[in-house]
Amino acid sequence: MRYFRVPREIVFGYGSLNHLAKMDMKRVAVICGGSATARLAGDKVLPLLIESGKKVELMTGVLPEPPIRQVVDFKERLLEFRPDWILGFGGGSPIDLAKSAWLFYEHPELDVFDKVREWGEGPIKSMPPLRLKARFTAIETTSGSGTGVSRGSVIFDESSKRKYPVRSYEMVPDTAIYDPELCLSLPPDVTANTGMDALTHAVEAYVSINDNEPAKCLALRAIRYVFQYLPAVCSQPDHKEAREKMHEANMMAGIAFSNTSLGINHALAHALGAGYGIPHGLCNAVLLPYAIEFNLPDAEAGYAEIARTIGLKERTAKKQANALSKEVFRLSLLLGIPGLKNALANNLDHFEKHLDIVARNAFSDPNIAANPRQVKSPAQIERIYRKALEPTG
Ligand SMILES: [Fe+2]
Repeated sequence: MRYFRVPREIVFGYGSLNHLAKMDMKRVAVICGGSATARLAGDKVLPLLIESGKKVELMTGVLPEPPIRQVVDFKERLLEFRPDWILGFGGGSPIDLAKSAWLFYEHPELDVFDKVREWGEGPIKSMPPLRLKARFTAIETTSGSGTGVSRGSVIFDESSKRKYPVRSYEMVPDTAIYDPELCLSLPPDVTANTGMDALTHAVEAYVSINDNEPAKCLALRAIRYVFQYLPAVCSQPDHKEAREKMHEANMMAGIAFSNTSLGINHALAHALGAGYGIPHGLCNAVLLPYAIEFNLPDAEAGYAEIARTIGLKERTAKKQANALSKEVFRLSLLLGIPGLKNALANNLDHFEKHLDIVARNAFSDPNIAANPRQVKSPAQIERIYRKALEPTG
């Protein structure tokens, strides 16, 4: 038996933000990041809510890698305001934080630090039901995290420097709104990094050991869109059609990985990002060619299918699969994404000296479990990081 779970309602395309005015909400907590997203929320979201008679509180200040202590802070703010809807607004971080804060707003008796660490270690066996107090809507303003349609919420543990992917289908938002208008002013580097995050979601979902045909269909289409439209939207940020397609790719990739799983690339990206503060999408981008190479012995057919989808013409499945990692590398170069060495910058020495610890953290990330090639030791992970440090793909 398999499941395919998505938000009850996904509204997308230019103008879809206006759907907010029609939603039956009384008290809405809008959770967002720093000043730029707060301004965007103030300009675009709050007027729609207020003019349609809703009581609104704007809760700002979610950090780029939201730590567990912020889950506590925002839970307290929610308990004070008592919303019947929580609206996560922004990139992956504020929406992820809003999801976890929602969980503990519903169940304030739970210890936030204990539960995030426990649930972030592996499959959740005892996630309590949500929606006793509030429902959740997500509005993504970048095209990458897919968190608006997914079950995940990644939270950072400052003491252990680990990222915990807290996951449960209870946390799939009720409504998700994907209005590409909100992305038109994103700078090229954020566009590139987040777009590569979406690509990684789709590639990992497609070769995940979890069989889920509808999810994999969406993954394949998302991959095609990223190769087709991400270069255009990076060179011309206000390219309306490319923005719309990238936002759809983001949404489709989010549905895909939420219903299958991710894999080794995200495990390595989480450990790298948590240790060195490198943006999540950039971590995925610099690792993806090497994670594909690692998986080749057990995922050749899947990678070959992806290669054919993006128009690679090699004659055999083996050659097609081999060509995919090079094509991903070429896409990153085209987008101006630096390699791992440059992404680490001054932290390169530290990374090389502590590679064993980073690899162990990646090895304990639950995303490893659905990877097509079984990962048997942290030493295998170290080798992937080392390959990514080499200058060519
Ligand atoms: Fe991701």
